[in-house]
Amino acid sequence: MRTLTTAMMIGTGFALFLGGCKDQPKPSPAKEVTQQAAKPASAKKDTAMAKPAKPGKIVKADTFTYANYDEVQMTHLSLDLDVNFDKKTLDGTAVIDFKPVKPGAHILKLDTADLDISSVQGYTRDGEWVAMDYALRDKDPVMGTMLSIPFSKGTSKVKITYKTNPKAGGLQWLSPEQTKDGKFPYLFSQNETIFARSMAPLQDTPAVRITYDATLRVPKGMRALMSAEQLGQDKDGAWHFKMPQAIPSYLIAIAVGEIDYRPIDAHTGVYAEPYILEKAAHEFEDTPKTEKAMSSLYGPYRWGQYDMLILPPSFPFGGMENPRLTFLTPTLVVGDKSLVDVVTHELAHSWSGNLVTNASWRDAWLNEGFTTYVENRVTEKTEGKRRADMEQVLALDGLKRDLAGASRPEMTWLKLPADMHHPDDAFSLVAYNKGMFFLMFLEDRFGRDNFDSFLKNYFNHFAVQSITTEDFLAYFKENLMAKYPGKVTMDEVNAWIYGPGLPDTVRKVHSDAFEAVQKTLDQWTSGQISVAQIDASKWTTQEWLYFLNRLPKLDKTKLRALDKAFHLTGTPNAEIAFAWYMQGIKADYAPMKPALEKFLLSVGRGKFIYRLYGALANQSSEDRKWANTVYKKARSGYHPIAQGRIEAIFTKADKKK
Ligand code: BES
Ligand code: ZN
Repeated sequence: MRTLTTAMMIGTGFALFLGGCKDQPKPSPAKEVTQQAAKPASAKKDTAMAKPAKPGKIVKADTFTYANYDEVQMTHLSLDLDVNFDKKTLDGTAVIDFKPVKPGAHILKLDTADLDISSVQGYTRDGEWVAMDYALRDKDPVMGTMLSIPFSKGTSKVKITYKTNPKAGGLQWLSPEQTKDGKFPYLFSQNETIFARSMAPLQDTPAVRITYDATLRVPKGMRALMSAEQLGQDKDGAWHFKMPQAIPSYLIAIAVGEIDYRPIDAHTGVYAEPYILEKAAHEFEDTPKTEKAMSSLYGPYRWGQYDMLILPPSFPFGGMENPRLTFLTPTLVVGDKSLVDVVTHELAHSWSGNLVTNASWRDAWLNEGFTTYVENRVTEKTEGKRRADMEQVLALDGLKRDLAGASRPEMTWLKLPADMHHPDDAFSLVAYNKGMFFLMFLEDRFGRDNFDSFLKNYFNHFAVQSITTEDFLAYFKENLMAKYPGKVTMDEVNAWIYGPGLPDTVRKVHSDAFEAVQKTLDQWTSGQISVAQIDASKWTTQEWLYFLNRLPKLDKTKLRALDKAFHLTGTPNAEIAFAWYMQGIKADYAPMKPALEKFLLSVGRGKFIYRLYGALANQSSEDRKWANTVYKKARSGYHPIAQGRIEAIFTKADKKK
């Protein structure tokens, strides 16, 4: 029996930031557990990070989990695993501490995905491990499989012996040849949104927070890292970790490889493969300043260490905010610090997302919208208003593109519909940029100072809790609206949260820098100036992106002239390269093809490759064929998440033709 989701359709649609492409309403709507009035997460928690938030009476807001977390909640996870590169498995045990949150609860329901479970034991009052019954049920392509364990009163700890599947959705296993130095293999996880269940049995929902510890045995010469305090190696070579701060499962992370460390300051540093370590430490050396600017606005950084790990190029994201250890794509290491906003973004998640978490993926904007807002505010402080203004204009452009490509109007609401197909579909630029512009609307109406102190108090009030949009709204009404009456109406607010598209209360964005770029662009495209007269000597990455994104359909001679003058084909700046190749595909500009192929073979970042493959697949049948050939070569180097998405893009394009 399926509980909360029903059979799925392979759909298409949303021009996702993640390249996600399959949101379609579920055929028969899932049971509406989420429409009940959400209980405001009330208990004030200001400082303590050591314990999970007090549950109280819980409303189950997350439908993408089998966990019965309204009845029983796990509180701690203890992993003891062998990292086996030959078999591509994590092999060992997971001990789960749990407690009933509803009287009489007697079944623990966990999420798993393709785990090979060999036994479940319970810890008795007499301090012994004894075998327990368990059942694996309801296998589903999105949700995975439910592991249900009936328990008797007094049992509060189970030990599950298991192995992961070599094809685990959240793990990427790279052979030595797929790493730069070629000496050691590499393993990394990407658990957001619902992939932690492919790594360990657990309650895989952002609504439940746990502490964790882990012991990992890895081949000699390799370093293991987790999103936790790194306790180092014991005398037998095993690596130990402890995460005393309660986090949702999607923030559990692991990486194993030939990895070295370079500190930047006493609590910030960079982990990377040796080939890129020094360059990365230089690229991100200003991170302590960014953190200072952020904490001066929103309160102290509460996680102790802030390190960054530079992953192999197949890492499917720009960055992932794993606590204490942000994961980053190596494509940010350009040499000129031009792409450090991604670090600003991931660092901002230390407040929005990791401290105050969305209780369900329908509320993803509470994570990404707040983070994008904080990112822009801090960029303004560290890089200046000119830069922050440019980012806002680019953000609005991107948002309009995603709004236009939405699969259905409800997917453009900030609070997403209950019948989303997959939680990854929550991550379009609606969550990011519509979320940011909503907060900018509030900032403009209430005034910057009032809004800043509201936000700081909000992070403090909901620290170490998982909340819904409705919890935010209740807090907002009480602490901002009621305090400063007459500044906004609930109709205006609701239009953002429960309404489609872009409300007309959106901030009017403007960038002087882009105005100048636009002038140059107009002059060049209308033939008033030649390519040699385009003065781009002081252009930043953002100015280039604006220029390239707004190029009208050009003939190939003009593109060639531009390319010759500015060496765009093959540029080491991945953002600029991406924008250029997108234009090149549209204009059928063949000279860039070898460089584009190289790009697709060396970069696995979803934001770039999904749209590049999408553009190629929908351009002409030759391009589609060419893209297919490149993909076949590139496939084994891509993350399983990326492989799935690109294959869906091809399938969709094939259907259309
Ligand atoms: N948390 C996201 C990455 C993510 C989103 C993972 C959805 C899984 C599902 C991360 O914080 C992020 O937003 N990364 C962006 C960078 C940012 C500057 C927009 C990326 O990877 O491009
Ligand atoms: Zn983010």
